[in-house]
Amino acid sequence: MSLSIVILAAGKGTRMKSATTKVMHKLAGKALVEHVINTAKTLSPQNLAVVCGNGADQVTPLVESMAATTVMQNEQLGTGHAVMQAQAIFADAEQVLVLYGDVPLTQPATLEALIQCGDNSGLRILTTELADPTGYGRIVRDATGKVICITEQKDADEATLRINEVNSGIMVLPAQWLKNSISKLENNNAQGEYYLTDMVALAVADGLAINTVCCDDNAEVAGVNTRQQLAELERHYQLLQANKFMAAGVTLADPSRLDIRGDVTIGQDVIIDINVILQGKVNIADNVTIAANCIIKDSSIAAGTEILANSMLDNATVGANASIGPFARLRPGSVLSDQAKIGNFVETKNANIGVGSKINHLSYIGDTDMGAGVNIGAGTITCNYDGANKHRTTIGDNAFIGSDSQLIAPVTIAEGATIGAGTTLRKDAAAGALTLTKTIQKTVAGWKRPVKKKT
Ligand code: UD1
Ligand code: CA
Repeated sequence: MSLSIVILAAGKGTRMKSATTKVMHKLAGKALVEHVINTAKTLSPQNLAVVCGNGADQVTPLVESMAATTVMQNEQLGTGHAVMQAQAIFADAEQVLVLYGDVPLTQPATLEALIQCGDNSGLRILTTELADPTGYGRIVRDATGKVICITEQKDADEATLRINEVNSGIMVLPAQWLKNSISKLENNNAQGEYYLTDMVALAVADGLAINTVCCDDNAEVAGVNTRQQLAELERHYQLLQANKFMAAGVTLADPSRLDIRGDVTIGQDVIIDINVILQGKVNIADNVTIAANCIIKDSSIAAGTEILANSMLDNATVGANASIGPFARLRPGSVLSDQAKIGNFVETKNANIGVGSKINHLSYIGDTDMGAGVNIGAGTITCNYDGANKHRTTIGDNAFIGSDSQLIAPVTIAEGATIGAGTTLRKDAAAGALTLTKTIQKTVAGWKRPVKKKT
């Protein structure tokens, strides 16, 4: 079947009370409409259009970056009017799937089921049953169960308001019939709008079959109108993610205290403690443990590595069986080899750390190439910035840097070199030798401390 998809996203979202237009509010780190576009793409449509209006300046760049087409609806005269603006892009032989920019959690399988129901000559509507259907369009059926129309809440009588089966808004229409019929929509209703839902009664009049799929999971068809609903859907989505990872062999101390905001893979027997955020593109291999309060963004972590509490990783690549934290900060370009160890209050940036090298306490290692088996003493700083330019520090295999040293880049410490504690290193240090820059210890007997001058 040839399919085109139109996503309606021109509405205002008044109840969000926000300068950000509704469909750009984020769920799990992605704009609502981004979720919908991603879902739409799983169906491989011929055309994918997003109808923009309110906040189009915010929505259009995202739509274009995702290789979808923007269609402008300058005045928002209703859902039917929105689809009218996009009709030129549909080829006659296509089926048109209508989605909503503020309904982010519809699953591809549900849409597949909708597209498969009935044949291509009829209409297909995704419905759901709600204990409280207030606000939704009701699915009105005749005595034999055939759908005869959809009636909006504001246009419904008492009996119609008691119907629990509601319109999700998501429907599939044959393009040729849609293009012939959509101009027949009228706006003589309670809201003075051109309702897409009125296409159902027009289809019935034309003798088209109306097929429905009822979606069991209300969250799949739930729209976001308020920040409270946004938070509810966020929690729902996070729980789905957590369940998926637990089913795949990940232990979560508390599934409600893990937040995944991006595209994340997690291996088997990974253990994740509470209050962890995984953001962007994150790959975690088997047997990794992540302690409480860690934030890991756009990073990959190889098997068996341990990340202790309160650590932050951003654009870092970590080898196997490494140890990070507690309270470590790996900034962009940190590349740790296997068995490397980064301890508490250590910051790394643009640094390659060799196999088994250790930076255990209170250090800054930036713009550095470090070999294997290096030991960096507490309080070591690579002085990488001269106020204008960044310079690199190179540290050979098995070097030992005494505590409280400053390595003033550009500088090279050769293999097996030892740097005495408290060294301010301005020149390269030779292999296998001890380099010191502070004076040898001396004792001044009878030393008088300075006294405050009287004024
Ligand atoms: C719509 C349906 C209703 C259904 C409900 C499900 C109609 C008339 N009603 O009602 O049957 O139960 O969704 O949530 O379709 N939009 C535009 N341009 C417009 C108007 C709306 O792009 O001119 C977009 C909005 O941005 C929104 C979506 O269409 O994403 C739905 O519009 P909204 O006004 O919220 O419709 P509802 O009253 O919720
Ligand atoms: Ca709505």
